[in-house]
Amino acid sequence: MTPLLTVDVHVAPDARRTALEADVRAGLTAQPKTLPPIWFYDERGSQLFDEITRLPEYYLTRAERSILDRHAREIVDVSGADTLVELGSGTSEKTRLLLDAMAGRGRLRRFVPFDCSEEILRVAAKDITDAYGVEVGAVVGDFHRHLGEIPRHGRRLVAFLGSTIGNLTPVERRRFFTDLDVTMGHDDRLLLGTDLVKDRSRLVAAYDDAAGVTAEFNRNVLRVLNAELGAHFDPSAFDHVARWDEANRWMEMRLRSRHRQVVEIEQLAMHVAFETGEELHTEISAKFTHGQVEQELWDGGFVVERTWTDPAGDFLLTLARPYC
Ligand code: AVJ
Repeated sequence: MTPLLTVDVHVAPDARRTALEADVRAGLTAQPKTLPPIWFYDERGSQLFDEITRLPEYYLTRAERSILDRHAREIVDVSGADTLVELGSGTSEKTRLLLDAMAGRGRLRRFVPFDCSEEILRVAAKDITDAYGVEVGAVVGDFHRHLGEIPRHGRRLVAFLGSTIGNLTPVERRRFFTDLDVTMGHDDRLLLGTDLVKDRSRLVAAYDDAAGVTAEFNRNVLRVLNAELGAHFDPSAFDHVARWDEANRWMEMRLRSRHRQVVEIEQLAMHVAFETGEELHTEISAKFTHGQVEQELWDGGFVVERTWTDPAGDFLLTLARPYC
């Protein structure tokens, strides 16, 4: 008998720690200082992000959900898939809309959530096995390195939702699409969620909400460094900055030092100096046009099959197939 739930771990037990140390050493000695957004997401950070998705200003999650509410069945039909692979699956809430549509068509065979957090995956995978009685093959990995470890069987719909792709630079996106393309067969499809370019004031508000949740989310990276590396950041000594970079078409989050300060990071035997007003770059969140998504997918080996937007035209879902 095959077990309903399997969890394959492709990251070494100390990989998280090694990556954090390397990112902090490199990022805090660079000019300008930079930390990758992945380090926001400890338990508190994931909770804060969850809160963000419910903020009035943060339209992304609602817009994407409204597309899935309306079109999940069509997406599933056009894709012909019987296996759902979800990259960066998190808590898999929107996934259920796709799983429901597949189950409703009587062709749901397998769910493969792929995430860098084993704890998040175990919870999500167990929930889905219980709710759908379907085979779940969870894969713990990092999508810069372990895409090749995702099981190949079935007709797969690979979903990369939430505009998480926007956290990557153009060079990283190109590499991601090309890496993904080589792991995909003729009958597999990619479902990509991307936030669209819009009015600057709405973009800035979405990343600088009135309740200050995004500011706390941004500062959370400092708490993660305090907890995991024995750093001595005072989060209240940094202001939250969210700005629209028109030339690069991305939102940027930074933490601006309110005064001159030197911060010790005990476990790295490091001291990091900040000038008054010096900014630590913590995230980019790229915004796209329809044509740009099509072009980037093409450059990565995919051809667009169909697209869907919400009624306001805020967000885009794209179904694409590998072209060779
Ligand atoms: C989860 C990466 C899509 O970029 O909008 C939310 C993270 N950052 N508010 C985004 C985020 C600030 C979010 N993603």
